[in-house]
Amino acid sequence: MNKLTGKIALITGASRGIGRSIALRLAQEGAFVVVHYGKRRSEAEAVVLQIEQSGGNAIAIGADLSTLDGIHDLFAALDNGIRERTGGSGFDILVNNAGIGQIVNLEDTTEESFDEVMKINVKAPLFVTQQALPRLKDGGRIINISSFVTRVASPSVFTYSMSKGAIDTFTQLLAKQLGSRNITVNAVQPGIINTEMNAGTLQDPSGQKYAAGLSTFKRWGEPEDVADIVAFLASPDSRWITSQLLDASGGSHL
Ligand SMILES: NC(=O)c1ccc[n+]([C@@H]2O[C@H](COP(=O)([O-])OP(=O)(O)OC[C@H]3O[C@@H](n4cnc5c(N)ncnc54)[C@H](OP(=O)(O)O)[C@@H]3O)[C@@H](O)[C@H]2O)c1
Repeated sequence: MNKLTGKIALITGASRGIGRSIALRLAQEGAFVVVHYGKRRSEAEAVVLQIEQSGGNAIAIGADLSTLDGIHDLFAALDNGIRERTGGSGFDILVNNAGIGQIVNLEDTTEESFDEVMKINVKAPLFVTQQALPRLKDGGRIINISSFVTRVASPSVFTYSMSKGAIDTFTQLLAKQLGSRNITVNAVQPGIINTEMNAGTLQDPSGQKYAAGLSTFKRWGEPEDVADIVAFLASPDSRWITSQLLDASGGSHL
């Protein structure tokens, strides 16, 4: 505990799901957490309240990451928020988590469906990181949320899988570029996690059976399973790990 005292973390898409759990977990370790959200302001504010009630510090910032204007708005608000709440500038940990799922095969892929996924899952992390780099402190951390679909070919989620493949490559490129600043860059690849993204699958008994059967532990994952791994990668304990793609699928498809 308290491995992140004095650190400031920005987690995109932290109003719910995996991002919410990461926000709570990093706050538990003592980080000041910037809870980014897209549309769900009240859910993001509830995350902030939960952190504050546990003795932690957090702020919520809303921004649509599908446009560069939205990304600029995020960083303008982040600069103000950090200055007001900590008196300092810059931050230590970036978690590129916001993303959208999409169950569409190759045959049914359209230009619109392709652009929709790429805009949030690839373009947004790239430009968020571009804006983050001048503000990220040396010795910092970047953690990208990828997916196990880059390890196990899943044609039913065709463009989505390609978007996460881009995140894996992005992770390696950044790790090389930022080594001289002692910034580590790693990706976490969750399997099926119990979030709204999988609501359709996990509400249905046959979907539940399928999801639980994938993991060697015979259950699907919970957001906390991923958040604990991210907390390790965010901590000083992971200082000698960079450019790694960490499977977080409970041994799915072994
Ligand atoms: N769930 C899984 O099984 C699973 C598996 C592998 C990888 N992943 C990856 O893990 C990450 C989180 O997934 P999740 O299941 O936790 O998702 P989720 O519950 O659907 O939450 C998605 C988050 O992303 C934000 N977001 C989406 N579009 C946005 C936009 N245009 N602008 C700003 N924010 C936006 C949402 O904000 P608002 O709600 O405020 O709009 C929300 O906070 C994603 O990158 C996903 O691909 C998930």
